[in-house]
Amino acid sequence: MVKKNTCVFISGKGTNLKNLIIKSRNYNFPINIKLVVCNNPNAYGLNYAKKYFIPYVVVNTNLRNYEKKILVNLKKRKISLICLAGYMKIISNKFLKEYGKKILNIHPSLLPKFKGLNTYDRIIKNKEIKTGCTVHFVNKNLDEGKIIKKKFFFLEKTDNKETIKNKTKILEYRAYPEAIIKIFSKASF
Ligand code: GRF
Repeated sequence: MVKKNTCVFISGKGTNLKNLIIKSRNYNFPINIKLVVCNNPNAYGLNYAKKYFIPYVVVNTNLRNYEKKILVNLKKRKISLICLAGYMKIISNKFLKEYGKKILNIHPSLLPKFKGLNTYDRIIKNKEIKTGCTVHFVNKNLDEGKIIKKKFFFLEKTDNKETIKNKTKILEYRAYPEAIIKIFSKASF
């Protein structure tokens, strides 16, 4: 199997990055993680890039041409798939056009519900019965691209922000790899 050269974009903890790195070590998992892009020099997730010897670039998103810098690095590593995993920056339209290949994102709600930030607070406030995570393609509208995979659980009376977050993350670690397998095994995408 020819694995797709993949770049994971992170800003924080990087637990989805870690999970994808481990999954990608399996010989029949369709991607190889060749690069990590991070916009936060203090992100804990950078430790996983270091630990698993994956090249990484830290970009300063306050600079005007930071997306150009990312594109140069993607080209250099022949990246054909980007997985956003807790990357707290909106991908510009210009970037989408210039990169022109698949970009995926994972979001901690059942899209189209609760797009954007502060997802867990809004789920609690809205007294949802169930919640979960969604893996989707990235397009020019925030959290609105075609959905690839969703996973859910029912909320319990005792749940709070912390428990909802933990339960959601456990589902994320299954949903992201399954979504990646799905897009490379189906002609429909
Ligand atoms: C995940 O919950 C993901 O859904 C959201 O950001 C979080 C990233 O977590 N987009 P981690 O950095 O992978 O631990």
